[in-house]
Amino acid sequence: MTEAILLVGGKGTRLRPLTVNTPKPMLPVAGVPFLTHQLVRAKDAGVHRVVFATAYKAEVFEEYFGDGSDLGLELVYVTEDVPLDTAGAIRNVADKLTSAPDEPVLVFNGDILSGVDIRALVEAHRSREADVTLHLSRVTDPRPFGLVPTDAEGWVKAFLEKPQRPEDIVTDQINAGCYVFQRRRIDEIPTGRRVSVERETFPGLLASGAKVLGVVEQSYWLDLGTPTAFAKGSADLVMGIVTSSAVPGPDEREYEEALVLAGASIAPDAVVDAGTTVGSGAVVSAGARVSASVLDTGAIIGAGARVTGSIVGRGARVGAGTVLDGAVVGDGAVIGADNELLAGARVWCGAVIPEKAVRFSSDE
Ligand code: GTP
Repeated sequence: MTEAILLVGGKGTRLRPLTVNTPKPMLPVAGVPFLTHQLVRAKDAGVHRVVFATAYKAEVFEEYFGDGSDLGLELVYVTEDVPLDTAGAIRNVADKLTSAPDEPVLVFNGDILSGVDIRALVEAHRSREADVTLHLSRVTDPRPFGLVPTDAEGWVKAFLEKPQRPEDIVTDQINAGCYVFQRRRIDEIPTGRRVSVERETFPGLLASGAKVLGVVEQSYWLDLGTPTAFAKGSADLVMGIVTSSAVPGPDEREYEEALVLAGASIAPDAVVDAGTTVGSGAVVSAGARVSASVLDTGAIIGAGARVTGSIVGRGARVGAGTVLDGAVVGDGAVIGADNELLAGARVWCGAVIPEKAVRFSSDE
């Protein structure tokens, strides 16, 4: 049995305006708050107790998950007075950990969708007697990420900032946001100030000669930090490209390529496909097509609208004939008929756009 820390205090700025009302880890992904998928996976891997490191919108987590008994987990919540960054947040929950100094403690970023074998990660950490073990993922384009080269035996050689030039790309291995710490290494992190795991704690451990292990695993991995990734992650869960036992059962009518939650309404000639989730009380009107998108609770899609790779917030309305592609619509926003909002467009919560008012694409 293992104890885990879940880092969920970030502001989720890249996902605004979705994160204005809801912290990123609680946004609905394939029908349930994203964290549900992570918690269920952790439990399946033998985690029995999870300490939440919260800051932004801290109260929302406990209100939803309570003591964790519904999930068969013991959940504990700690809130930072001011956000302490990733390692500061880990240190801040140390008092609530029950693990002994030489026991492993798992740490998860609250926005990573991954199929990593958590048991194997902990086992590698134990058998190699590491101080800290990181899950590393290989990506085709490492430019947006910090790089983590390892030697032939898997020991981490360096933590490199995002590459600026082609010659900086010395590896395709990136920090995948899931770690195993020896408990005593958590107690060594400075208290009461902002500390970053990637910029301070991990490089500091390397400099002091600590054993930092990288486990490269090519399972599904996606950082849900941006709108495009968020819509993709949800669609991949619905399509079974990555699996989670937390994906809820469908409404009475089965859709092959969509998750339609109870209380949603889809016109007979409307199409919902490519991993779309239609939240409860949401409406897809006649002739509309919604592909690879997330419609939150009570969202309304007008007749003949086209919605692709987009996220439509709670109770938002999309007018007849409007086209959304790679767009984000905040909770309660109203978009009139015959608008066109393409890649990168974001509509703020509660905003009202008249009909035929906008043709937006960040690509042009
Ligand atoms: P952006 O603002 O869009 O970068 O998102 P973010 O800050 O929420 O996420 P980021 O990818 O930077 O952080 C990785 C993980 O650490 C996420 O799960 C965050 O919730 C969490 N995190 C980041 N900063 C803090 C913090 O100050 N305190 C706590 N408790 N968690 C944090």
